[in-house]
Amino acid sequence: MAKTDLNLDLPLLSESPAGWAEIASARLDLFLADHAGCEQQAALSALSLADRYLDDEELVDKLTSLAMEEIVHFRRVAAILRSRSIFAGRKRSNPWVQALLKNIQDRREPHHKVDRLLVGALIEARSCERFTRLLTVTDDTEVQELLTDLGPAEARHWRMFYDLAARELPESELASRWRAWLLFERDLTAKGGKLPTVHG
Ligand SMILES: [Fe+2]
Ligand SMILES: [Fe+2]
Repeated sequence: MAKTDLNLDLPLLSESPAGWAEIASARLDLFLADHAGCEQQAALSALSLADRYLDDEELVDKLTSLAMEEIVHFRRVAAILRSRSIFAGRKRSNPWVQALLKNIQDRREPHHKVDRLLVGALIEARSCERFTRLLTVTDDTEVQELLTDLGPAEARHWRMFYDLAARELPESELASRWRAWLLFERDLTAKGGKLPTVHG
């Protein structure tokens, strides 16, 4: 697969700001440390969503499977951190994800559920875009292998989140909601790109 093929299927309205991949490539230690936290968080958020919507069998099945996959991703990144003795600089906050979550204001159901799933789709899609972008720049073979393996999983994940959301609303309502989220994410991402982190 060509390095940029993955992006062709992404729904995002923009690429990451120019220069982000070079910043991340210059500080792979910080990128990897942040990446481990993102995988851990992905597993936890999937479980918390499954816990909230226990009555939705399809959602619980898919999100628990996803959580298991994210744990495998976490272990893989953690092993790289350990082999490189990267223990410093670990930060827990992700202002980009926090801004997305803060923008979920509709408490009515199924709208709240839809928004949480669409945010999940955005997070996965942007992760995939960032992995693809970094792949074109880094010459670290271990990181190249990691991103090549994980990119397709994140591409699959955004679609899974989106499809779960799509069950809940009529097509036109879903389309306008998704469009609003894509625009919000585009503007949010345009403000970032200055740190060697997976998002923001
Ligand atoms: Fe992952
Ligand atoms: Fe994922």
